[in-house]
Amino acid sequence: MLPRTAYVDQSVFEWEQQYFFGGGWLCVGRSDQVARPGDQRAEQAGQGSVLLARAEDGALHAFANTCRHRGHELLPCGASASHGVIICPYHAWTYGLDGDLRAAAGFKNRADFSAGQWGLTELPVVEWQGLIFVDGSGQAPPLGDALRTLDEVIAPYEMSRLVVAGTHEYDSTANWKILTENYHECYHCPSIHPELCKVSPPKSGENYDLAGTWIGGTMDLRDGMVTMSLDGTSGGVPLRGLDATLLRTVIYLNVFPNVLISLHPDYVMVHRLLPLAANRTKIECSWAFAPEAVERPGFDPSYAIDFWDLTNRQDWGACESVQRGLSSPHAQPGPLSPAEDAVYQYVTMVARGYLGQPIWNSGAAAPAVTGR
Ligand code: FES
Ligand SMILES: [Fe+2]
Repeated sequence: MLPRTAYVDQSVFEWEQQYFFGGGWLCVGRSDQVARPGDQRAEQAGQGSVLLARAEDGALHAFANTCRHRGHELLPCGASASHGVIICPYHAWTYGLDGDLRAAAGFKNRADFSAGQWGLTELPVVEWQGLIFVDGSGQAPPLGDALRTLDEVIAPYEMSRLVVAGTHEYDSTANWKILTENYHECYHCPSIHPELCKVSPPKSGENYDLAGTWIGGTMDLRDGMVTMSLDGTSGGVPLRGLDATLLRTVIYLNVFPNVLISLHPDYVMVHRLLPLAANRTKIECSWAFAPEAVERPGFDPSYAIDFWDLTNRQDWGACESVQRGLSSPHAQPGPLSPAEDAVYQYVTMVARGYLGQPIWNSGAAAPAVTGR
């Protein structure tokens, strides 16, 4: 395990916000949340927030969510808007969807004011598999470099064509890394997930060991079970790109630092973690299905959502107990079992980051966490 302070110490949390969540590529949402030209949305990203805006030509822009006048947020975090321009709510400075300053009351015709100098601060943004990633540092190497080995694993699922048919939001009193570590092992499944063990053998599967800023592995479905649901049946349709092996497999992936992607034969579940404090994390969960399933009369996504909502709550309960347990000053790191090898891969990646080694391969390394 990582040292206890990694999970409970607010100064470690603040370092992570700066260098993990604001220091490289972070998932800030889904493409379908800013689908049309004019769509805008603000999301937390490390110590600040970003404003996403879809321009008329369909290009997605990301800006630091701070007005160039006196710093007001252009939209509150988590809020959406749809408008041909970006208007600051404070003194109504108005920007184009490309970030250029278009209007600032009282500054017109002033020789000493050049609107061209006061555009929004743009950040690198990439849409990948229907998810939006922003590089809050502005200096990370391309996201494609970090996820190259994952592209092949994930391609058959064609995530960007899938349709989200359900979402849940959870507020958990656990550290974001405890939630991630829990995702990476099924050593706990026989103890807390009787429903999951009915459809998927907890000891099945393998972990990938490939380069990149991601970690993950597979698990099998039991004979007779076609997906992860309470009775092992599907209310959807199999994803069209999957071969016979993938139709019997569930793939669990974590793209560092904050997105968990669970690929099923007939749907994809995505968890996005938003750390709020050392001991508190908001979790956004979405379930996406093939369009041909969603369009069917009477389609009901609850077979997938109910199964995972129950399993999620079992997981959060365990993670919150770990958080409380680790808040004891007597808590000490314990050994990982061989069945927790993906947890080992994960904590190694985190620990390298703590030591000041760059997570995104090159670019600016963070200073090491000191004094602990
Ligand atoms: S702070 Fe945005 S217009 Fe004044
Ligand atoms: Fe679990």
